[in-house]
Amino acid sequence: MSFQNTVLVHAPVGRDAELVVLILAQAGLLASPVRGLSEILHLAKAGNAGALLMTAEAFSRPAIEDLSQALGEQPHWSDLPVLILVPGGRESALIGHLESSLLPLPNLTLLERPIRPVTLTSVARNALRSRSRQYEVQRIMNEQEQTALAMMQSEKLVAVGRLASSIAHEINNPLEAVTNLLYLMQGEPNLPQAARDYLQTADRELARVSQIASQTLRFHRQSTSATLVRPESLLNEVLEIYNTRLTNSHVSITRQYQADLQVTCYEGDIRQVLSNLVGNAFDVMRNGGALRLRTRELTWWATGERGVMFTVADDGSGMNEVTQKRLFEAFYSTKGIQGTGLGLWISKRIVHKHRGHVLVRSRMENGHGTVFQVWLPYALADSAKEAWHTDDVDESC
Ligand SMILES: Nc1ncnc2c1ncn2[C@@H]1O[C@H](COP(=O)(O)OP(=O)(O)OP(=O)(O)O)[C@@H](O)[C@H]1O
Ligand SMILES: [Mg+2]
Repeated sequence: MSFQNTVLVHAPVGRDAELVVLILAQAGLLASPVRGLSEILHLAKAGNAGALLMTAEAFSRPAIEDLSQALGEQPHWSDLPVLILVPGGRESALIGHLESSLLPLPNLTLLERPIRPVTLTSVARNALRSRSRQYEVQRIMNEQEQTALAMMQSEKLVAVGRLASSIAHEINNPLEAVTNLLYLMQGEPNLPQAARDYLQTADRELARVSQIASQTLRFHRQSTSATLVRPESLLNEVLEIYNTRLTNSHVSITRQYQADLQVTCYEGDIRQVLSNLVGNAFDVMRNGGALRLRTRELTWWATGERGVMFTVADDGSGMNEVTQKRLFEAFYSTKGIQGTGLGLWISKRIVHKHRGHVLVRSRMENGHGTVFQVWLPYALADSAKEAWHTDDVDESC
């Protein structure tokens, strides 16, 4: 249960706790009595408290030390407000001693009794307000940490892509040389038939290596400037990579290409987006299924801008509610070590940099599966090109 907006009240004597909770509740504040100090300490350490409000009777010397230790262990964003009601009137040695032991506690407010309800509620309200700002700081810090981690990971992926394409580039020359040598050998007149068959097989296999190398090169081509491409060729190039795996898993493929115009985009990046969508679809159809790919012209209803809609649909398991809520978060993956959870996070950023949109529908009932759609404007606005170079991403969907 969350107590992040709640004043936790610990007043062990008489009806104090009940009355304080009532006064705060009447002022529209959330307040909850807590029976033991250990519960308060537990909630304070877990960062699950809006403020603490305690009476002097709650404190023995070890209790003060325990509270001081719990507050000392707060994460660095946290500075939990502590309000303590101390007896007013003539100062006694006992009270003086208690107060001086309490004073070193961080973010402490001592309130003298009897206290007017209006004073109590205004102090509690301020404490909750300052606490809610602390939670906001925590949220921003977490987000920044996640983003930095995800950026690092995606840079690594880009580096791996570059490595793959430089390897593909390097093997092209020796590949060509071996292909030529095989060709020359096949021309030898006195070659036995068996050797000729071997050479043919070698030639065929080499052609496959060559195709893989050129596919890799094409796939990881760096997007330095936006180019005009046919939407279906982007999908077809992605399919080439997955073709063998899809066929081996008995996945049928239906293509419906209806977009005639070319689209201006950073094609390497859009291929990466489509590749992740096809890869995700493949992952839920390892035992067979139907993959539907579609391109069609579509005017974005909110802006009237013309563009192309890519659709990648599968009839796999679909996604539960939690996954549907979290799928665009960095590092969210249900695939264990098989997934980094960055595919859709990066995809969303790429599409938004194009001033495009990502839509998703998914149902878990048999045969419904998941439909991902990516809409891109036909023309890439200048602002989008600038965003490319300044990394200015619009995070809204
Ligand atoms: N077509 C789909 N069907 C069912 N679940 C999906 C589908 N596409 C995405 N998901 C869910 O969304 C999660 C996040 O997807 P995302 O592509 O971001 O990461 P990933 O595929 O797990 O890892 P990777 O970084 O390798 O792409 C997946 O782990 C999966 O749970
Ligand atoms: Mg993925």
